[in-house]
Amino acid sequence: MDAGTMIIRLENLCTVYEGERIPAIREVDLSVSSGDFVCVVGPNGSGKTTLLETINGILKYTSGRGEVFGLDIASNGNAIRRRIGYVIQNFEIDPLSPFLCKNVVMSGRTGKIGLLRFPNSRDWEMVRGSMGLVGLSSYWERPVGKLSGGEFQKILLARAIAQEPDIFLLDEPFANLDLRARSEVERLLSRIHADGSTMLMVSHEVNSIPRFCTHIVVMDGGRIISQGPRDEIVQSGIINEILSMGRTSG
Ligand SMILES: Nc1ncnc2c1ncn2[C@@H]1O[C@H](COP(=O)(O)OP(=O)(O)OP(=O)(O)O)[C@@H](O)[C@H]1O
Ligand SMILES: [Mg+2]
Repeated sequence: MDAGTMIIRLENLCTVYEGERIPAIREVDLSVSSGDFVCVVGPNGSGKTTLLETINGILKYTSGRGEVFGLDIASNGNAIRRRIGYVIQNFEIDPLSPFLCKNVVMSGRTGKIGLLRFPNSRDWEMVRGSMGLVGLSSYWERPVGKLSGGEFQKILLARAIAQEPDIFLLDEPFANLDLRARSEVERLLSRIHADGSTMLMVSHEVNSIPRFCTHIVVMDGGRIISQGPRDEIVQSGIINEILSMGRTSG
């Protein structure tokens, strides 16, 4: 996609979970352009995961407007999700899972492969390349049930990379990683971004804000309370204020 094209546009958007009265995110105005690297920060429960799942249409927004790639999210969820590489926050690994790492990473290409053909050599090359990027080439035939939490998180990232998406949505991508793995994954995200992908990641930790992100969005209590270019938001001091105080109710 051309750099600068608007790809996510949310206007006055709210999402209320079924059976709840209070919106988990509310009055959200957010625009993301192709080539941006946006980091959303906010305390636990501030609505970050809800925001990501609203953007990819897993959750239906309840009011306002939401468009991704110029398509209304409410009626184009499948088409939008095919172009989004989503790395989830909460995962459980079934220790008995018989699936091998190579197959889990290949499952990222399901949208590209479709129902009418089998994976070809280019698909396998993408899988091999993605596993190499996260440093797990030697795990090709390893059952995912045997992986550590950090390794599985890297496999999920490899799966998203293999998808060749237009946007990456990354939910706490450093959460299960030790310091060394963190800096490796941070460098990898920077490289993927430099190659032209748009990135939207969320984190509850000030230390997880990548040095090279272009924009920061600060959430609290389901609202965006500040957003702008990275340096501007860092200098404003609002991040420390919100992450140390964390007033997340209402
Ligand atoms: N399925 C659900 N039904 C009702 N409420 C929910 C549901 N999922 C999340 N919530 C609530 O919505 C609010 C926002 O949750 P969300 O998971 O988006 O927060 P978060 O910012 O991602 O938090 P964390 O940093 O802990 O991951 C929380 O109060 C949460 O309890
Ligand atoms: Mg979350």
